[in-house]
Amino acid sequence: MSIKRTREETYSSGNPLAGNEFGEFGVWARETGNVEQRMTVLKVAVIPGDGIGPEITDTAVAVMKAAAAKFDIKLEYDTKPAAAAAVDLGLPPLPDETLALCKASDAILCGPFGDPRWDNAPPAERPERAKLVLRKTFELYANLRPVKPVPALLDASPLRREIIDGADILIVRELVGGLYFAEPRGYFEDDKGRYGVNTMKYHAWEVERIGKVAFEAAKQRRNSVHSADKANALESMQLWRETIQKYRDKNYADVGLKHVFVDNCCMQLVAAPKQFDVIVAGNMFGDILSDIGAQITGSLGMLPSASLGTGTPLFEPVHGSAPDIAGKGKANPLAMILTAGMLFTHAAKRPDIGKAIDDAVANALDKGYRTADIARGASGEKLVGTREMGEAVLAAL
Ligand code: IPM
Ligand code: MG
Repeated sequence: MSIKRTREETYSSGNPLAGNEFGEFGVWARETGNVEQRMTVLKVAVIPGDGIGPEITDTAVAVMKAAAAKFDIKLEYDTKPAAAAAVDLGLPPLPDETLALCKASDAILCGPFGDPRWDNAPPAERPERAKLVLRKTFELYANLRPVKPVPALLDASPLRREIIDGADILIVRELVGGLYFAEPRGYFEDDKGRYGVNTMKYHAWEVERIGKVAFEAAKQRRNSVHSADKANALESMQLWRETIQKYRDKNYADVGLKHVFVDNCCMQLVAAPKQFDVIVAGNMFGDILSDIGAQITGSLGMLPSASLGTGTPLFEPVHGSAPDIAGKGKANPLAMILTAGMLFTHAAKRPDIGKAIDDAVANALDKGYRTADIARGASGEKLVGTREMGEAVLAAL
């Protein structure tokens, strides 16, 4: 059997899951080991970002290079600044050159953005804004955040081993709408003084398109979707709930769907995470749920993400720029390395390489390598810095 599909066709299919580990092509490639139609040149725009970004990005790029060489992919990459790192060079937070590179690439590998020097600045002037602009520019509406504890770290989580052992969750976060983007927004003033406004607004079509991603993913997993909303208090979320239900009844009647209030979902995530397969949520609620999810994996330093949509896909760790430990060589690079794995899976349609990177990370952890955030002082642990952890992953790969 031979399926020919060009990259252009894959990209224009309108379904961001087509061709990745959940889509038919990804599964087919994995099962048959067929290499004929796989992308051989992969152009990556690398944006190290702020704080610990440059250190963990160096490490992840080294792993990417090794994986590409091993699996016969021609990796071409170029590095450009954004966020506070760009502002420090006298550039805007998202320089034209950086955006142009992203447009011309197959994927963006992006470090964390954020710098305490802007802590009191209004949102529009903060370095993080560059990330929101990138997400919006490429209409990256589907943010996939897998939450799955690595066996070696089951005791690193503040949650008891028996609660998290076996948890395997995919958080599907809507990324370009809702409270983060809808109008009106901004600062205003009335007779009672200054006030700030953000708007939670979702059109039914936005809910349907993220619902589709969640249902498609569930079909490739355990066939269950929890939709987290706040339909008991907010009209936008009542519409979300109705829309998801109708969309599922019409198109995915065979996929299980439960609605859950987001506050209750937070509680359930720490109390009984194993009940969840796919969780779909709007932008704000998905942001909160994924930080809670991080604790199931032991550390925010373990969580990768993929942002998919209609333009160049973007891959970034869920954690922030950790300015307190920046430049000290102590940061955990594993979320960034796992993020590079997701890049191979989703942008290069090579789930086999993504899996090899996941396995190499698990192997380094099995051997006892730990950065400070995941170390518990147990016997057999080797406390290492960013570079050594990267080297342990490279050795395993
Ligand atoms: C995330 C982050 C960002 C977000 C910030 C840095 C704007 O928390 O990716 O989870 O809220 O989306
Ligand atoms: Mg967040």
